[in-house]
Amino acid sequence: MTMTARKEASRLSPTRDLQVGLPARRAAAALLDAVLQKKQPLDEVLGRARDGGYMFDLPVRDRALARAIVGVSLRRRGQIDYLLNTFLERGLPARAGTLYPILLSGAAQLLFLNVAPHAAIDLAVRLAQWDPRAKRYDKLVNAVLRRVAEKGADIAASLDAARINTPDWLWSRWVSAWGEERARAIAASHLAEPPLDLIVKADPELWAERLSGRALPTGGVRLLSKGRIEEMPGFAEGAWWVQDAAASLPAQLLGDMAGKRVADLCAAPGGKTAQLALAGASVVAVDSSKARLDRLGENLARLGLKAEVVQADATLWLPEERFDAILLDAPCSSTGTIRRHPDVPYLKSDRDITELVAVQRKLLENAVTLLKPGGALVYSTCSLEPQEGESQVAALLARDAGVALDPIREDEPLGDMPWTQASGCIRTFPFDLKLDGPEWSGMDGFFAARLVRTG
Ligand SMILES: C[S@@+](CC[C@H](N)C(=O)[O-])C[C@H]1O[C@@H](n2cnc3c(N)ncnc32)[C@H](O)[C@@H]1O
Repeated sequence: MTMTARKEASRLSPTRDLQVGLPARRAAAALLDAVLQKKQPLDEVLGRARDGGYMFDLPVRDRALARAIVGVSLRRRGQIDYLLNTFLERGLPARAGTLYPILLSGAAQLLFLNVAPHAAIDLAVRLAQWDPRAKRYDKLVNAVLRRVAEKGADIAASLDAARINTPDWLWSRWVSAWGEERARAIAASHLAEPPLDLIVKADPELWAERLSGRALPTGGVRLLSKGRIEEMPGFAEGAWWVQDAAASLPAQLLGDMAGKRVADLCAAPGGKTAQLALAGASVVAVDSSKARLDRLGENLARLGLKAEVVQADATLWLPEERFDAILLDAPCSSTGTIRRHPDVPYLKSDRDITELVAVQRKLLENAVTLLKPGGALVYSTCSLEPQEGESQVAALLARDAGVALDPIREDEPLGDMPWTQASGCIRTFPFDLKLDGPEWSGMDGFFAARLVRTG
């Protein structure tokens, strides 16, 4: 081998690539390609990538880096697209393979992750050279990212980050539902990584101390450090599970569940089933997805909690018995969870919401028929869209005389929290639950109402 060939071989060797972080960048670009171009949910693609795909062999640190690049690329996509449009004189070429995710993730590293320009640019060029469809644009990648490195930070800082990083379809929905000031506050809370919330089986104060977190007024524990969840103290022994503070509210609205028969419709992956079982209820967990029910089973087994598991379509499910209480945490657009799932704005659309509203209506109608007279039904969605929350419940009350709203009272646990509305329902926003400093604050956007069967 000549000297030059040897140099070339070492430049391309996997060992050197690992050292300079190329596999993490390749994983990030592939994940972004799957989400933005193939419209696949990030959690699913991440799962596949880890379980045998392109992240399988990556050291934990590189996986974390790939995830960080993807997260910031999605959160700041509007600002980055603005810059790319400014610097790409002839626009983005068509049929260029992974060129766009390479540029997006390269710019994200330069602008928001403090990666040294020579590293971010060199790796982006090499990624382009690996992709047969993008490789003829390697010089373009170099030129555009150099301009981003030189001029991008000032331009990006001059943009209205909350507005430009929110796709128009969501911005107009939130302005018309909640007004511009709240729409802006919602959007602003999507720009940073959220803290990690846990529900502990017992002793939140103790676990807060042990995990260097803080106990929440909603009953859980909040952490900033996010190593591998499976390696954190308490995970293996089933002392806690991951659940956002707002997501823990609906099950709490059912009050004392000890000894009650409760159906958790749309139960998987089981966060709320676990809360109900822990509160002493005898729970039937229903979900239409076999794969998600398998995860529910694994989660309950780790936690040492029990529930009967039924795979069924809950719009049609009609068992013999009637229940003391039902929790219906319906499938929804998930627009309240964008802090945790920054891919949602690019996967969902107005049309999905129309379709989901129709399914939620059917689920609600069936749920009411499964209740004993006097039984309680909590309906919740992790959506910021009133059509999936407030209006859905108002429409049910208007058409079904056999069900009434059971407003949350101020004197019940959590009843005096600021998110309990005058109507007696719960509405949380991602900017709620303000604690010391933005990094400790926020919660998912949720709606929850408690109803009672009167007829
Ligand atoms: C918001 S998630 C539920 C989260 C769960 N309650 C928790 O706390 O972990 C909605 C669930 O509804 C399920 N689902 C969607 N349509 C359904 C239907 N027609 N019948 C039963 N389950 C359904 C989905 O598989 C998904 O697991």
